[in-house]
Formats: sequence, structure tokens, C-alpha cells
Amino acid sequence: MRHVAHNCSFVGFGKPRGLLSHSGLPRCQSTGTPAQPARACSRPLLISLYLISRITFAAYRLAAVAMWNALATHTEPSTTSQEQVSPFGSQHNRQGKRVCIDSAIDSMRCANDQTWIGSGRHKCSCGLWRKLLPHVIAAILKEVGGCNDLMLDGHVYQFGVFEGRSMRMLRRMEPFAKLPMFGFDSFQGLPSNFLDSERGLWSPGEFASDPRAQLKRELGREGAPVHFVSGFFNASLQPGLARELGMQPAKYVDVDVDLYSSTSQVLGFMFESGLIRAGTLVGYDDWWSGPCRRGWGSSDGAHPSPLETGEGLAHAETARKYGASFVCVAGGCRAAVPCTSFGVIFLVVSINAKSRGDPGFAMNESGIREFMAHDVVCQAKKPKKPKSKSTTLE
Ligand SMILES: C[S@@+](CC[C@H](N)C(=O)[O-])C[C@H]1O[C@@H](n2cnc3c(N)ncnc32)[C@H](O)[C@@H]1O
Repeated sequence: MRHVAHNCSFVGFGKPRGLLSHSGLPRCQSTGTPAQPARACSRPLLISLYLISRITFAAYRLAAVAMWNALATHTEPSTTSQEQVSPFGSQHNRQGKRVCIDSAIDSMRCANDQTWIGSGRHKCSCGLWRKLLPHVIAAILKEVGGCNDLMLDGHVYQFGVFEGRSMRMLRRMEPFAKLPMFGFDSFQGLPSNFLDSERGLWSPGEFASDPRAQLKRELGREGAPVHFVSGFFNASLQPGLARELGMQPAKYVDVDVDLYSSTSQVLGFMFESGLIRAGTLVGYDDWWSGPCRRGWGSSDGAHPSPLETGEGLAHAETARKYGASFVCVAGGCRAAVPCTSFGVIFLVVSINAKSRGDPGFAMNESGIREFMAHDVVCQAKKPKKPKSKSTTLE
């Protein structure tokens, strides 16, 4: 097993330094003028002059604030038109990439190692990559002035609930502890119609479970409730749903629905409803499931890219369709790191319907081979034998 060595100065992520101040209009209390000699004018006249000047100043200030508000309303990005260009300015490198993101990614390499060390002798499992999420958020927040504006507050969305393991994990994380959460699932397992190529990986009805009542009790908090949306996504994810349930743009979207078709439906719903915005984090649990199960040890030596199968394929198509640009900030998008690289975490940096977007995953074929040869979870995945046949998509 190769251990990825980094030049880390990472020693945990502290609180953001020097948050931008939110000062309003200056108070204009000039104190530095020396005392003036008393003038020979009457006191009432002075008082009236003072009052008139105060009233004029207040009226002027009200007019300025009204103008500013009108301008801000006018230029606010629309969530429905999907013409939401990233408002993030400042600090780009020569390639036009935000310097803070590069630097957050550097910190993340270290966090990968730290998280693994921190997990002690825990058995490696597919879902451990989620442990990187608090580090991602802290790393981005740390880059004050460049990246601070990337951190939205919002709701947490879990697509694919099964027995609630990932929802429990997210609730235990400080950044998500007090946020409303939404869980989406059929609660009857995987649908029956999906691609032939995925038959070797999953079966219809697999993962049937309904832990809703238990999870509501366990994870619901005052001001941070847990809601569930039940049903197969092609029927349950309807256009008016977000408004009906009071859903707010996502701080984090966890995609753990295994299949290409399910992921497409989920992402389409989130973008169409304006719930994914610049600053949203999106994590995929099965990014490597297709390549690792099908490609591993295959006789023809084929190693498909994650962007060609399952969740990754739906991600790439959605990025193009909505002009969404992603940056992979942690997990299995660079190199294999013990136990925390099977999933990937992306940050949405801009959405512009007029662009072709960017899926934010740039590993080439040799990188993919190398990843698959070194990732512990990937190596443990074996191809399954297909159980039944169907070619139609839902
Ligand atoms: C691998 S499990 C999720 C595991 C869960 N995140 C955990 O950590 O325990 C995948 C889930 O996605 C759900 N799912 C997949 N496709 C779906 C669809 N089209 N409609 C509804 N639910 C779906 C399945 O019912 C299943 O519970």
C-alpha cells in the first residue's frame, strides 16, 4: 500500500481569522476639532440650525439607503433562471482559478492524512470519506478574504437513506449539527429499471429499509428538524416540492443512490429547484464503484473513468446541462489515501447556463489506473455476477 506523503504544515483547522467586518454607514463623529471661541449668536437660533441640519442629513441617508436597496434587489441573481454566475471575486491565479481554493485543496491533502490517522484502527469502509467534510469547510473558511464567501449556510440533503448511517454521521459533524436535514428514498430499495451495465453491481430492491421514525427521534432538533421525502425519485421529485417543504439552498448534498438514472434525477431536481448554488458542497459515495467493480482485474484491462459510469456520468452530464463548474476539494479525485478516498467532495464555484460547465475531475487514464491499484476500498471491490436483465431506464 502506498502512503501519500505531503509537505504538510496542517495541524488542525482553527477558527477563521479576521472575518470581514460588517460595518454600516460611518457614524461620522468627528472628535478632533479644537474648541472654537464662543460666538455672539442666540442659543435658539443655534438649536434650530442644528435641528434642521440633522433632519436634512437623516432624509439624505434614508434616500441613499432606499436607492441602495433598490439596486441590490435589481441585481440579485435569480434562482429560477439558472443564470447564477459566481459572485466570488478577487484573488485568482494566472489560470483564473481562485487562489484560496488551491490553498484549501492543499490543506485537504493534509486533512486526508490526518483524518486517516485520527480514525485509528477503524475498519476501512466506503463511507469514511465523509469524515473529510468538516475539514473541507474549515479549510475553505480559513482562506479569509479569498474563500470566506464560499461558505453558504443552508440545508443538508441526503439522497439515499437506507438505514441512516450517513445521516447519523452528518448530524454528528459540527457544521451540520444545527441545520435542517432532508432525507430522500423509496424506502423500498433500488428501483427495478436500470442500465444493464449496472446489473453486475446492484439488484432491484436492494437496500430496502425504513428507519424514518427512529431517525426523526434521534436526529431531529429544535430549529433543525429532519424531514423525509418518500418514493421513487421519478415520482417524488416534483417541481413544486422544494417550495412546499420550505427547502433552502443546500450547504451540502450527499448523493448515495448508486445508479446513473437515480443520480440524474436527483441532480436535475436540485438544479431545477435552485437548491444547488455557487458555494454548495456535493459529495458522491459511489464515484469509484463502477470503475473499481467493473474495471478491476477485467480481462480486457479496461479502466473506465468515473465520469463514464454511474454517479460520475450523471455528474458530468449535469455540469454540462446547467453550466455548473465544480472543483473537487477532497476525496478520490487526486490520489489514493487510505480509507478516505473512495468518495469525492466537490464545491460548486459557479453556475452559468451559457457556459459548458466543468465537472472538476481531471484524472487521466494512468492516474485512474494508479488510483485503482492503491485505493484500499477499491481493491476490496469485486465484480458481481448479473442477476437479471433489463435495458430500460426509468
Ligand atoms: C447505498 S443505499 C444508501 C446508503 C445510505 N446513505 C447509508 O449510509 O446507509 C442507496 C439508497 O438509495 C435509494 N435509491 C436509489 N435509487 C433510488 C430511486 N430512484 N428512488 C428512490 N430511492 C432510491 C435506495 O432505496 C437505497 O436506500
